[in-house]
Amino acid sequence: MHSRVSDAQEQSQKPASGLHFHNVKPPLVDQREEILSGLLATRKSVSPKYFYDEAGSRLFDQITELQEYYVTRAERSILEQQGRAICRYLTRDTMLVEPGSGSSDKIKMLLQHYLPASYAPIEISEYYLERAAYQLQRDFPELVVHAVCADFTSLDRMPASVPEAPKSAFFPGSTIGNFERGEAVQLLKNLHRMLGPHGKLLIGVDLIKRPERLHAAYNDAQGVTARFNLNLLNHIGRILKRPFDLDRFRHLAFYNKDQNRIEMHLECQQSHTMEVAGQTLVFHKGETIHTENSYKYSVEGFETLALEAGFLRRQTWTDRDRNFSFHCMETV
Ligand code: AVJ
Repeated sequence: MHSRVSDAQEQSQKPASGLHFHNVKPPLVDQREEILSGLLATRKSVSPKYFYDEAGSRLFDQITELQEYYVTRAERSILEQQGRAICRYLTRDTMLVEPGSGSSDKIKMLLQHYLPASYAPIEISEYYLERAAYQLQRDFPELVVHAVCADFTSLDRMPASVPEAPKSAFFPGSTIGNFERGEAVQLLKNLHRMLGPHGKLLIGVDLIKRPERLHAAYNDAQGVTARFNLNLLNHIGRILKRPFDLDRFRHLAFYNKDQNRIEMHLECQQSHTMEVAGQTLVFHKGETIHTENSYKYSVEGFETLALEAGFLRRQTWTDRDRNFSFHCMETV
């Protein structure tokens, strides 16, 4: 992050323009504690947000191009065909917030039709955020960007250094699918609070479909998803200052039909222990670290969930094969 909060405050006195960075990334000690408590639990888990270090972000980009991974392609086809209609929900004075913006690729498909008052990507990976912000600046020189380096899952307001503005949210990619039902409702409630009255929510949600197709999407033939999953160990190893031996784990992904979710795990191949920060982590052969849930919804199922958080569904588009849904919602 090359611009501190003080810079942003200084800049906010001038007419709003250009690129602004805001850093509210959680301290390393907090991340260490969060990871450790997950690994010390009876059923081990690590949050999927730890997939996205630099290598993981690159691997995810590779996943989006896989033949088996229909998600990104299906959503892009909706945005390509319906971009103009989707943008009709947005007003000129809005600050468009994107939680977990990654490479900010999809927003460009909307920016072709419509330029918001400003765009605020929220992304925990500094690597992704900076690169995306500079690319946007280059491709859309008129666009005001407030790039926020933060963990959007624990954010219910913008950092104070971001100027006040009416807001709408762009939340594509079925990122919402990473959360348990209750967490998803809470996340949308936080978003609701952040947006305030008249806020619009443009959200992409993966649909329930044949288990075979889902299984293939998370068990690709080239093993990219396996590398993406295993790379999480490299990332948390750096945070914990204690490298993991990746050979001791293998990628496991399956569809849990009762819960309508793909589960990703790292399965331990041989029993071993690890000393981390004065604690002993015990790994048994066959035991797993649960690294991700990816929930799939029906249109009605997601409508009900969103309503619990105070969002009314206005319009929904799907791709031709009904793989993916994109909803425009409004705060009630
Ligand atoms: C970014 C959460 C939508 O769940 O499909 C891709 C992440 N994990 N392959 C998904 C992911 C394995 C992805 N989301």
